[in-house]
Amino acid sequence: MARKTPDDLRSARWFAPDDLRSMGHRSRAMQMGWSGEDWDGKPVIAIINTWSDLSPCHHHLRDRAEWVKRGILQAGGTPVEMPVHSFSEQFLKPTSMLYRNMGALEVEETLRAHPIDGAVLMGGCDKSTPALVMGALSAGLPFVFLPAGAMLRGNYAGEKLGSGTDVWKYWDERRAGTIGKEEWDGVQGGIARSYGTCMTMGTASTMMSIAEGFGLTLPGASAIPAPDASHKRMAAACGRRAVEMVWEDLTPDKIVTWAATRNAVTVAMATGCSTNAIIHLIAMARRAGIPLTLDHLDSIGRTTPVLANIRPSGKEYLMEDFFYAGGLPALMKELGDRLDLTARTVSGKTLGEDISGAVNYNSDVIRSLSNPVYHEGSLAVLKGNLAPDGAVIKPAAMDPKFQTHRGPAIVADSYAEMKAIINDESYPMTPDHVLVLRNAGPLGGPGMPEWGMIPMPKALLKHGIRDMVRLSDARMSGTSYGACILHVAPEAYIGGPLALIETGDMIELDVPNRILNVAVSEADLAERRARWTAPAPRYERGYGQMFIQHVEQADKGCDFDFLRTDFGAPVPEPEI
Ligand code: FES
Ligand code: MG
Repeated sequence: MARKTPDDLRSARWFAPDDLRSMGHRSRAMQMGWSGEDWDGKPVIAIINTWSDLSPCHHHLRDRAEWVKRGILQAGGTPVEMPVHSFSEQFLKPTSMLYRNMGALEVEETLRAHPIDGAVLMGGCDKSTPALVMGALSAGLPFVFLPAGAMLRGNYAGEKLGSGTDVWKYWDERRAGTIGKEEWDGVQGGIARSYGTCMTMGTASTMMSIAEGFGLTLPGASAIPAPDASHKRMAAACGRRAVEMVWEDLTPDKIVTWAATRNAVTVAMATGCSTNAIIHLIAMARRAGIPLTLDHLDSIGRTTPVLANIRPSGKEYLMEDFFYAGGLPALMKELGDRLDLTARTVSGKTLGEDISGAVNYNSDVIRSLSNPVYHEGSLAVLKGNLAPDGAVIKPAAMDPKFQTHRGPAIVADSYAEMKAIINDESYPMTPDHVLVLRNAGPLGGPGMPEWGMIPMPKALLKHGIRDMVRLSDARMSGTSYGACILHVAPEAYIGGPLALIETGDMIELDVPNRILNVAVSEADLAERRARWTAPAPRYERGYGQMFIQHVEQADKGCDFDFLRTDFGAPVPEPEI
């Protein structure tokens, strides 16, 4: 491929011409202390930074930007740090998912509107990875993704604690009365000991792994713990590489192909990925013009074993252990020819070349194909009269006895209603009942909050029951577990069949055959549908109004319709 020359640089259209407008650009660059040394024939690399003081997972990224800058300067580029929305999973209400598309839009327009030639994207907390990647794919400039990296393992009283997963576990015990306030406070102080993302194989670690599976990170980047010094070296390497990618014109359409997408899905399944990955994989692929569907995901899921023995699918280990065991390159090496090793990555080489030197240092943490954690992939897509467009379940993280199940529904129209049910110690229910929460989907939530792992009801907890079938149009945290059927599409709020079921209806789940039905006749469902009335819109103004007008259903990735690659004519480059 022909290398770009300085005259070809996109930023040269701002800085090079001898005209009035460009003189303005140069003088305003000089206002910041720049000189011709900064803009003459040098790629301008944006460091897209999701740091904020309310983003604990990204709290090191202000420092890490300095390391990226070092790399960009070493390679002869000009760094510019551009702050974007910070995606703080733990603080954003009603849910960070409401803001993924807003962030993606912001990234796309930030890159397009400025004199930028390439980018390093920094993030990792749940929605930040898909938002950054979606926006940058649509902008189409060469970019490298620098994963924020996971935090250190949690620790309390000598116990290794996993983000999210152990919070749910200890909360059930607290509600069951088996632990007191002192232990609960100890867990609170010990479960998040450093900056970095959740260190279970939750949504954050899954999405960072998927970015590496797509070929959008440098080899090994996704598993480096945030506090490890090698994270700084990786940051500098990303800066250097982004400059080179501009000269090579290595744009993302050359990386995110069908082959790379299949690799990313395979990696997701082999990591025992978060259910959220399903939505984000579809959304990211579609931004690259690849019509990935739930059926593709299910078929790869059926044949890909889970190799990463990391909680919550695995029993024991956390992301720090995964890093010491060799990280994602070692896992990808175990996957062998299940991956397309000819796919090109941001390194400029093939995936096969990237992982050729990878070593698995701990075969209990990173399993081989002959000794997997689970023989089938971690996620299954269900369909039936209750979910004509699909629903998702994570068989690897549930009690296997629920794989085929028939039980009566207990239906709640809102989270508040469900909370009253689960907190009622004398609510009449058996472990065979199915808790059904609706109006928690993309429009109903709004933003499809992570309410799908409905906490176990007190009425069952007191009998020592720790799992039951739960069903909703919501998502659940990637660190969650249990027999939770999620992402039911179409959602109840727009009149999907979930809106029509009543307490006492029999729910039929058959994971091996991928079926989710309600045992109610078509005639009865039609009669109920005729009586159904649409709820009032959640928003009448602001971003929420834009969201509810344009968000697509879960099976389509919850992107905005107008941000899809196939929506209308391509966005032109800004005229200068
Ligand atoms: Fe940020 Fe979990 S809260 S990754
Ligand atoms: Mg999460």
